[in-house]
Amino acid sequence: MTTAPSSDLLDRLRGLLGLRGVLTEPGDVAPYVSDWTGVFVGTAAAVLRPADTAQVAAAVGACAAAGVAVVPQGGNTGLAGGSVPDGSGDQVVLVLDRMRRVREVDPVADTITVEAGVVLHTVQQEAAAVGRLFPLSLGSEGSCTVGGTVSTNAGGTAVLRYGMMRDLVLGLEVVLPDGRVWDGLRPLRKDNTGYDLKQLFIGAEGTLGIVTAAVLRMLPDTPRRATALLALPSVDAAVALLPLLREHGGGELTAWELLSRQALELVTTHLPGARDPFEGPHPWYGLVELAGTSNSVEQRLEEALAAAVELDLVVDAVVAGSPAQRAALWALREGVSEVQKAEGASLKHDVTLPIAALPGFVDRVGPELVALLPGVRLVTYGHVGDGNLHYNLSGPVGDDLALRAAAPALTRAVYDAVAALGGSISAEHGLGALKRDAAAGYKSEVEVDLMHALKDALDPRGLLNPGKVLPERPGGG
Ligand code: FAD
Ligand code: MLT
Ligand code: ZN
Repeated sequence: MTTAPSSDLLDRLRGLLGLRGVLTEPGDVAPYVSDWTGVFVGTAAAVLRPADTAQVAAAVGACAAAGVAVVPQGGNTGLAGGSVPDGSGDQVVLVLDRMRRVREVDPVADTITVEAGVVLHTVQQEAAAVGRLFPLSLGSEGSCTVGGTVSTNAGGTAVLRYGMMRDLVLGLEVVLPDGRVWDGLRPLRKDNTGYDLKQLFIGAEGTLGIVTAAVLRMLPDTPRRATALLALPSVDAAVALLPLLREHGGGELTAWELLSRQALELVTTHLPGARDPFEGPHPWYGLVELAGTSNSVEQRLEEALAAAVELDLVVDAVVAGSPAQRAALWALREGVSEVQKAEGASLKHDVTLPIAALPGFVDRVGPELVALLPGVRLVTYGHVGDGNLHYNLSGPVGDDLALRAAAPALTRAVYDAVAALGGSISAEHGLGALKRDAAAGYKSEVEVDLMHALKDALDPRGLLNPGKVLPERPGGG
């Protein structure tokens, strides 16, 4: 059972965090109670803005003692409603936006140590300033934070080469639900001293602890990029191209992204300056990028394209000839989330499948969805190189109500097909509030029990981000 903060607790929090650290005026609180999608809107008794780890610990400890639930928040760009409080008005949001210090950049150990509120783009820039690379790359990188990307185990466009956020974290500092601090901020590559505790908090979406700082890996810089947009006949071709791109691209293959015609059309309609670089329409497009240190990237890309054309896997190709052209090609891919919002309501399905199953999935589910809602628009795109599709839907033109009414059946059809083909219903966005109940239906009882056991061990009173990630137990709670 959680409770609303009393005026005494709010006074105590003001004493701990200062007046700037506690917001209660509705106008001040408003930006923190709805998310980027606009789908999730809650209310909060207060927004806490601690300035350092000691303040996070003190605030969480005070809330825990009073039985008040805390919702951690970073850049609020998550796509599963995890960072938004519920509608009770009893919860407090704890946002890390005053914790933006870069604690250390160590080019010898190849690590960067940052506070949780540091924006992802800043980490990339800090690494670049010492000639290194921080490779996590997302459309939201100008706003999302280290704490948020750790807590969602974010993916993005370079997972194919570098893995997810989990693969880039060496150490964490975490405030536990009772207010104690776990200092796991170690830069060690090897540390076999029992359970690897940091892994528990990575991808936990703020349900097990509040990440306050992280030690992240830096990698060799890859200033030379070769990028091309390919017109493809089918999803089959996109899948068949992957081994070919690997063979020719070697370790320099960094991105292999997919875009349907429908998705491209939305971008060219809504994104200022965006244009279709091909003369005619094509059913699918692939964005490939090789990155390295020499002009071998251009040569390798050319060889790969020649081989692909020979095998009829590519119908046409546009190779970026300058950084501006590269940016224009990437804008076509990364602009989709934003423009789909401009088009009205959308239904997001962030699914992943064994790569070979992607064509069968698309062939099977598309007609099922059209039968359920004639006129539904399949805005399909994503990270095909790692098997992750954003199988997002827009309603029939001008008919958001129809999309909303059909949403449960549409989502069910998508998830059932994903499960039947051995996939997962959340590839990189997490479960949050959006998918916590659906996930339970596609996980084994043992898996759900283990998740509850971990939650009970760390947060027995359910004070951190209640209502997120964990499916309700039979009988509630
Ligand atoms: P928030 O949205 O604030 O929070 C996300 C979750 O983490 C919530 O459950 C919250 O409670 C928890 N949390 C936040 N900070 C902390 C903390 N310090 N300690 C504990 N818990 C915390 N995601 C991808 O993976 N790949 C993509 O390619 C991608 N592209 C995107 C493109 C766009 C245009 C947008 C809007 C989003 C995209 N996302 C993508 C989703 C989103 O950006 C990521 O999930 C990101 O990691 C969220 O970071 P954030 O700081 O905004 O976290
Ligand atoms: C992306 O890769 O662009 C986002 O993760 C997808 C989305 O907004 O659904
Ligand atoms: Zn994505």
